[in-house]
Amino acid sequence: MEIQLISMTKVLLILLSFLLIAVISYSFKLKNISSISKSSISRSSSSSSSTTTTTTSSSTTTTFNNIKKDKKKILVLGGTGFVGRTFIRKARDAGHTIISLSRRGKLDNENDNGVIWLSGDATSSTCISNIINEYQPDSCFHCIGLLLDGQSGLASINKYASGSGSIPGEGSSYDLITRQTCFNAINSMETLYQNNRIPFVFVSAAEAGWTFKAPIDFLERYLIAKRAVEKKITDSNKLKGVILRPSLIWTPDRPQAVVSVLPFFIGYQLGLPFVDKPIRVEQLVDAALMGIEDDRVSGIKRFKEMEELSNTLNIRRK
Ligand SMILES: NC(=O)c1ccc[n+]([C@@H]2O[C@H](COP(=O)([O-])OP(=O)(O)OC[C@H]3O[C@@H](n4cnc5c(N)ncnc54)[C@H](OP(=O)(O)O)[C@@H]3O)[C@@H](O)[C@H]2O)c1
Repeated sequence: MEIQLISMTKVLLILLSFLLIAVISYSFKLKNISSISKSSISRSSSSSSSTTTTTTSSSTTTTFNNIKKDKKKILVLGGTGFVGRTFIRKARDAGHTIISLSRRGKLDNENDNGVIWLSGDATSSTCISNIINEYQPDSCFHCIGLLLDGQSGLASINKYASGSGSIPGEGSSYDLITRQTCFNAINSMETLYQNNRIPFVFVSAAEAGWTFKAPIDFLERYLIAKRAVEKKITDSNKLKGVILRPSLIWTPDRPQAVVSVLPFFIGYQLGLPFVDKPIRVEQLVDAALMGIEDDRVSGIKRFKEMEELSNTLNIRRK
């Protein structure tokens, strides 16, 4: 009964956050949202089978000269997303080579060098295996996702809830977008590399750690998909899996979203059970980078561990 009450409170916080993001994003008329045309989505969807489009490519640069790390070739799944684009900027600056896949390919406002931007549908196993066979990435960061799927009845407001204005495709479900896309990548990476401990970082969610059923159907389906991926990664003997479990992810650069994380900060400060502290996107991607670069980093990371990994990375850069 108590658990039900607490989880209901959390669900209400989540719904309140979505609502706030939707209302505030709409009033801010986010640049990204207005630049997405439906035709580009359908064009990308139609390229979902085996073809991908390279929209830009150039050599990498190294700015963290004092970090003696092997440079990686990282496949970023969801590079146009709120999390993905932040990760790409940091990883590129650290000297890694990036291959990014998402349906939108390269966004107009992205001027990054050192990134191969590919447009394609990651729900297609052929699309993913072709990319992995052609570019042979040695590590992967999966940050594809959608907050509100078709079956939730709320898909039309996903573009406002999404930090990047991503529009769900026809028939998008958590199972397809979270589980299927990630399974496709894992299967292809495992086929390519028989015996390696391949760094594979997955953005899950804090609520995946709940040991009780979420009281709202779409949230439970979201978590079922996250847990299925977590299990696949944990069970693999070829991956060096890193599972990030953030609560809400925020950045001061998007003040409209800061408002929506406030209830979570308050809930966390009040010691509400099952409410994790929201994490800054920069800290989350630092933790992801540590997961890619450092052999010793593996397993499930909640907000405190992500903050620690971020601190460690920043100390190393000095
Ligand atoms: N934001 C949060 O507060 C939060 C909290 C907890 C967990 N998470 C998790 O963090 C991850 C990243 O979230 P986010 O906030 O960065 O989301 P986002 O901004 O909505 O980005 C989603 C990304 O997925 C890509 N994508 C969607 N469908 C695709 C498909 N079929 N094929 C290829 N790419 C596809 C989108 O690109 P296109 O639209 O170009 O295809 C976009 O790059 C998700 O797994 C999410 O569940 C987020």
